[in-house]
Amino acid sequence: MNAKTLAIVALLLWVASAAFVGFKFITGSTVIAEDGREAIQLTTDERNLVLGEMRALLAAVQEIIAAVNAGDMNAVKESAHRVGMAEAGAAPAGLVLKLPMAFKTLGFSTHEGFDEVALAAEIGAEAVLAGLETNLAKCVACHAAYRLNE
Ligand code: HEC
Repeated sequence: MNAKTLAIVALLLWVASAAFVGFKFITGSTVIAEDGREAIQLTTDERNLVLGEMRALLAAVQEIIAAVNAGDMNAVKESAHRVGMAEAGAAPAGLVLKLPMAFKTLGFSTHEGFDEVALAAEIGAEAVLAGLETNLAKCVACHAAYRLNE
């Protein structure tokens, strides 16, 4: 094999692997589960990481409602920003590739939604609850569509 052929083969391999990574980035690693939801295939550590983040989201929802009831808008802001965009996007690359595009989009939108809830704290309790309601619809939608398998 001469140098030119070798270069072409290397280039083709590079294009094929880049295309594969791009394909994975969009489709993720999923199968259809017995309950009809799309099951994302993860390792134990990856699943634990995602579930830990989920529990942090639920804790934030509880804290935000408690802060609204206490009339403490600073506490609303603090709890909401803790699960806002600044905290998202730290997932390992391997995990990101396994998550389908629609899942990532909905996930980011949920983090953004919490930043909007923090902004709503400037307006008042009703605005915070309205923002929370909109954001909780994303939790419900995602849980209806996906599950996590090890
Ligand atoms: C982008 C998708 C997505 C969004 C958005 C999402 N979740 Fe989840 N969540 C999941 C998946 C998938 C599971 C695992 C469910 C399963 O395997 O049955 C899960 C599991 C959980 C769990 C269980 C954690 C555990 O330890 O077992 C909690 C609590 C949770 N989510 C809370 C929330 C809350 C609250 C929100 C919204 C503020 C939210 N999630 C938004 C996908 C999502």
